[in-house]
Amino acid sequence: MKMLKGIRACVFDAYGTIFDFATATARCPDIPDDKRAALTALWRDKQLQYTWLRSLQGCHADFEQVTADALDFALESFSLENPALRERLLALYRTLQAFPEVADTLRQLREAGFATAILSNGTPLMLQSAVRASGLEGLFDAVLSAEAVQVFKTHPRVYEYALQQLGLKAEQISFQSSNGWDAYAASAFGMRVIWCNRYDQRPERLPGAPDHVIRSLSELPRLLGRCDAG
Ligand code: LAC
Repeated sequence: MKMLKGIRACVFDAYGTIFDFATATARCPDIPDDKRAALTALWRDKQLQYTWLRSLQGCHADFEQVTADALDFALESFSLENPALRERLLALYRTLQAFPEVADTLRQLREAGFATAILSNGTPLMLQSAVRASGLEGLFDAVLSAEAVQVFKTHPRVYEYALQQLGLKAEQISFQSSNGWDAYAASAFGMRVIWCNRYDQRPERLPGAPDHVIRSLSELPRLLGRCDAG
């Protein structure tokens, strides 16, 4: 595989890429086993749809609100409305666990000289809480939230915000996302992109093209080598 050159920072999507959103429902015994997977999928799908729809409508609400609204829709869809269950799941979402390879990958990248950052729709509070709960404190140079620009991915303003904050050009960033739509959008914006296709999604029919597709972030250090920033 051809290595990416001229990269200075590795920027990561959060939910589904660093944090495993399925660990919220997995740690909630009150959900019937036969509904768990479908509830997890619908909650995530609705959450994403609401980010796109609100961005299109110019009706921003923060990711905490969008996540709760999507959960309400999903719980009602499965006849699981229950205030205590709702609160429990939202609390678990604030303390999601990281995928197993994440901490070690971040350490390797930092040792190789790369800056590391999160760029996510999550609110600063949600992201800080998940970073702490998953034991990743001290492994990111920056945790960047779309809340700062009041619009969600895939709006270019979100990707632009990362450039401003890191003081880098788009082509100096390797952006990692498990979401095809996010990976293609960051590529169309001009970043170098590695699509971590954990969920075995089909290629998107959208502008952009990821530079590489991997299955786990553990493949990343080999693709980037050492930071040649000097
Ligand atoms: C994020 C979601 C969209 O972290 O995965 O931005």
